[in-house]
Amino acid sequence: MFSDQVILVTGGARGIGKAIAERFLRLGGTVYVLDQHIPESWSDADGMPLKGDITQADDVAAAVRTIMDRSGRIDVLVNNAGITRDHVIWKMSEEEFDRVLEVNLKGAWLMCRAVIPLMRERRYGRIVNIASRAWLGNPGQSNYAASKGGLVSLTRVLALELANRNVTVNTVAPGLIRTPLTEALKPEVWESLVQKQPGGQVGTPEDVATAVTFFASREAQFITGQLLYVDGGRSVGAGAP
Ligand SMILES: NC(=O)c1ccc[n+]([C@@H]2O[C@H](COP(=O)([O-])OP(=O)(O)OC[C@H]3O[C@@H](n4cnc5c(N)ncnc54)[C@H](O)[C@@H]3O)[C@@H](O)[C@H]2O)c1
Repeated sequence: MFSDQVILVTGGARGIGKAIAERFLRLGGTVYVLDQHIPESWSDADGMPLKGDITQADDVAAAVRTIMDRSGRIDVLVNNAGITRDHVIWKMSEEEFDRVLEVNLKGAWLMCRAVIPLMRERRYGRIVNIASRAWLGNPGQSNYAASKGGLVSLTRVLALELANRNVTVNTVAPGLIRTPLTEALKPEVWESLVQKQPGGQVGTPEDVATAVTFFASREAQFITGQLLYVDGGRSVGAGAP
């Protein structure tokens, strides 16, 4: 399905990004993973590793240059790298606010700015941004929710700016997914989140990968600016969010 396609996944060294990279590999794609931490055990079979920080324009430019030198194109960009620094606003530092916005929103913007001219020129591209159900509003996440809400807006603007070039831009908004990020939560916090899930179901990184490859497929050419929740139904119903 993705043979002959070149895919770049940010934050693809673990968690959801790794599952996305693995899914594209399984579907025949040439996959590059841009991450600030590449594990020692990493091999090219896991996707071609590019070490870098998406908040640094120089790192972003170097990664894109490497891909263009080696593969000559980027068909799919998945902006997945993201972080949390949770606190209620009266306990949140300015640094915690800034860093989350910088990684989750500005990092994705820098990636888009670097990759979009190449996609425009080729008149083909698929961009998938990984936001979060938390963009609807979550206590303790004023930084994170704002960053993901910004990412949703960024998606919509770019969808319009690129509509005449066969470049689509969409958002996937995961709910509760078991990854190293959420495994770091206190057990009582995790348990309370699970209890709010319809049917008590928690998602897997592979569930998110399914939505990503849908938006990234050639066939999804008339679907742009959209947001798809992967949250087991948590975003619907009178009790939401
Ligand atoms: N896990 C969940 O329940 C959940 C829910 C909703 C949304 N999300 C979103 O999904 C995405 C992936 O989450 P995850 O749970 O897999 O997280 P994770 O912490 O397990 O993995 C994130 C990866 O991004 C990389 N990364 C972080 N900052 C980076 C930077 N500045 N430059 C390059 N790489 C960087 C990390 O090194 C790591 O490999 C994030 O955007 C997150 O906000 C996760």
